[in-house]
Amino acid sequence: MSALPRIVCASANPDKVAEIEFILRDVVDLLPRPAEVPDVIEDADTLEGNARLKAAAICDATGLPAVADDTGLEVLALDGAPGVFSARWAGEGCSYADNRDKLLRELAGHPDRRALFRTCVLVRWPDGRELAVDGVCSGTITEAERGGRGFGYDAVFVPDDGDGRSFAEMTDAEKHAISHRGRAFSNLLAALSAQG
Ligand code: IMP
Repeated sequence: MSALPRIVCASANPDKVAEIEFILRDVVDLLPRPAEVPDVIEDADTLEGNARLKAAAICDATGLPAVADDTGLEVLALDGAPGVFSARWAGEGCSYADNRDKLLRELAGHPDRRALFRTCVLVRWPDGRELAVDGVCSGTITEAERGGRGFGYDAVFVPDDGDGRSFAEMTDAEKHAISHRGRAFSNLLAALSAQG
């Protein structure tokens, strides 16, 4: 049996790391991000650009392949906002709850509540090769928060491919089976195995 590919996880967000570890268990030997590497400033104007900044910093620091993901919530009625600005949408240093409150306020009384989570996953190898894939999950924004699980915008997002529950009302496995991140990483695994 061949050894699992060793890849360093470039994400510094513990909520995302937990999800990535869960999704990649048994298929990748995922090494933790070295604590001494400073966080990169995610100032690219695309998800792929931010994923590249994070993966390249960890790949350069460790000399090992690194994987990073960057995610945005795109709300149709807000012309795709918050998108690449999803993390700090309510202001520098804001909490997940601040972002959800802002979203519910901006959409208050709005009939069109369609939205899309988009994740870009990028692997960078020490020789400079890269592989980038996307995963998308469409859904609607709730009128009020629902559920206590998950993180970020999970409590205000109901995926189209689910049974009407928000992501924050689902188990981890239920979320990953249909989520943007679950889809992006399964696209990544397919692309990696096609490379041989
Ligand atoms: P990041 O830049 O990829 O860390 O993600 C930007 C922001 O999107 C995060 O701070 C969260 O608020 C939100 N986010 C990312 N992934 C998810 C998810 O799976 N569910 C809900 N919110 C998420």
